[in-house]
Amino acid sequence: DIFYKLRSMREEDISQMIRLRRELTFQDSISSYELCHKVDPQAFLIATDENERVIGFGSIKNSSDTLSTAGCMTIHPDYWNNGLAKKMILHLSPRVGNRNMTLLTEARFLPLYAPYTPILEKDYIIIDFESQEDVIPRCLSFGNQPNTEIQYFREEFISGVVEYDRKIIGFDRKEDVVSNCLDAYGRTVVAISGNRCTGYGSIKLNIQGACRVGPLYAETPVVAEAVLKKLLESFAYGKGFAASVPSNNLDAVRLFGKLGKMKNVNNFRMTSKERFVLDTSHIYAIYDGEFHPF
Ligand SMILES: CC(C)(COP(=O)(O)OP(=O)(O)OC[C@H]1O[C@@H](n2cnc3c(N)ncnc32)[C@H](O)[C@@H]1OP(=O)(O)O)[C@@H](O)C(=O)NCCC(=O)NCCS
Repeated sequence: DIFYKLRSMREEDISQMIRLRRELTFQDSISSYELCHKVDPQAFLIATDENERVIGFGSIKNSSDTLSTAGCMTIHPDYWNNGLAKKMILHLSPRVGNRNMTLLTEARFLPLYAPYTPILEKDYIIIDFESQEDVIPRCLSFGNQPNTEIQYFREEFISGVVEYDRKIIGFDRKEDVVSNCLDAYGRTVVAISGNRCTGYGSIKLNIQGACRVGPLYAETPVVAEAVLKKLLESFAYGKGFAASVPSNNLDAVRLFGKLGKMKNVNNFRMTSKERFVLDTSHIYAIYDGEFHPF
């Protein structure tokens, strides 16, 4: 039997969490754990060894009154196959209450989650596009988008972006959206038509030192491409690229395909009570699969 203690996350755990996730080749944005902790302080469960070193963690974030998002299940390789992940899921699961719970996972881990999230989504998967090299925005274009301006985020856009985000995702996540737009490790670009927000996208440094694009939501493929081009052209930090794309938005798959040949990883959506159905036709890259449904 292994020794471990379970407790809620503290901010000072973040550097150890990043180190572990980085070694296991995850592509989370640098500020994602801090942001999740701020919005839902009980979301993370941490496992420590006798010296208070972090040996594992996982999260269930309560996204709304009806939806929880599980993510980040990570155990240090020295502790694999001792039942620790199973224990942590069991410990976290009462957080869900009567909500529907959703998560994304690679195919090989479907059995780990199946007791909690027995419903497997068949209509789409989430494809991670990943590259260790920089992608070239030159092959993207600004297209013809009458009456639409593509601008860097400014405070005056907040209410429009929050409203647009709610329209796409179906519930209010103002605190997440505002923190995302103000993220010190990233940049957000907004599409404005008249005085209406018709799309927005963010690019951020991730824990591998690469650029992660997400969310990227837009009314049309032309607007999505223009926002992506401006994001890539304006962000001079990092080396490499990551974004997660719903497979049933063919315009989105085509858009990221334009950036060149990349490694693709397939993730499957599982839910606990009922399918989580959403119109993905405006979702070009999801926000962050560990903490958000899209
Ligand atoms: C996946 C992970 C969290 C499992 O942690 P763990 O503490 O070793 O898991 P447990 O010992 O509690 O095993 C629980 C179940 O997980 C599944 N499982 C564990 N390791 C697995 C592996 N390498 N491949 C496939 N399934 C695995 C099995 O179904 C297992 O049940 P069983 O023992 O009845 O067969 C751990 O291997 C890890 O951190 N991996 C790297 C990060 C990662 O990929 N996380 C998954 C995100 S979806």
